[in-house]
Amino acid sequence: MTTTVRPPVSSAVPAPALAPTRAALQHELAVVRARGGRVAFVPTMGALHEGHASLVRVARDHVGADGAVVVSIFVNPLQFGEGEDLDRYPRTLDADLALCGAEGVDVVFAPAVDEVYPGGDPQVSVEPGPLATVLEGASRPGHFRGVLTVVAKLFGLVQPDVAVFGQKDYQQLALVRRMAADLCLPVEVVGAETVREADGLALSSRNRYLDTEQRRLAVVLSRALTAARDHASYGVDAARQAAATVLAEAPQVEVDYLVVTEADLADVDPARTDAREGRVLVAARLGATRLIDNLPLELRVPGAPSFPA
Ligand code: PAF
Repeated sequence: MTTTVRPPVSSAVPAPALAPTRAALQHELAVVRARGGRVAFVPTMGALHEGHASLVRVARDHVGADGAVVVSIFVNPLQFGEGEDLDRYPRTLDADLALCGAEGVDVVFAPAVDEVYPGGDPQVSVEPGPLATVLEGASRPGHFRGVLTVVAKLFGLVQPDVAVFGQKDYQQLALVRRMAADLCLPVEVVGAETVREADGLALSSRNRYLDTEQRRLAVVLSRALTAARDHASYGVDAARQAAATVLAEAPQVEVDYLVVTEADLADVDPARTDAREGRVLVAARLGATRLIDNLPLELRVPGAPSFPA
């Protein structure tokens, strides 16, 4: 017996099936797979916003009208450290279901903690390797073990053909790609572009923690990244310095890291002279809220010819 619930929605909006249990999820997946299309998966922790809506649209683009889009909503305790915001993380299931309905999601998997971890914390977890010890991993020990473990479990439950993650969590995206490659998981991992407010602030479920003044200051992150990108043709140091100068305008914003890296998050290789895409990444604290953001930028030695058009 399954426990799928169909939430009430207006007749104009198709209701996604809400599966609160593994059994209900398997039932719904059997229904959508019987249609013969591919399955695209968008894992989330809920508190959905326009950024998540764009992930759902990318997912739909990958599987088309014949395919199915599955969204999971699960605030994963395993990826929160001591003193982090697990308890106050926003939980907005009704609004999330409305967004999923409006975006044509087929199935929403919204399990309770003991449905995902029936025996408590798992004895076997995914060791994320050295990439998880830098940047976010340096400030949040254990975070990526928790992320990759739940993503591996969700991949096992949903068995998607495609999974879509936001580029805003760039290190997470890189690690999920690495896990899929290293563990031979049969899923295509797609990175979707960051969605921004009109002033440039990257959308994040945590933005709702910001008070009016913090919200005004938060825009300095994307301005700093844009300055780095705009100065990249003068070299990595100039790019980083340009970003640091912008961040210094808002000393209330406590910068955790500001780095320019290769696209795979490795340190920039000073011996390389070829033009290529790199990344500039920033993390900062505004009061109790930690925000992260990143942008692609061009890596090349100063004076070298630009990318071909
Ligand atoms: O990016 C998130 O929302 C979470 O880290 C994820 C991928 C859903 C795993 O809990």
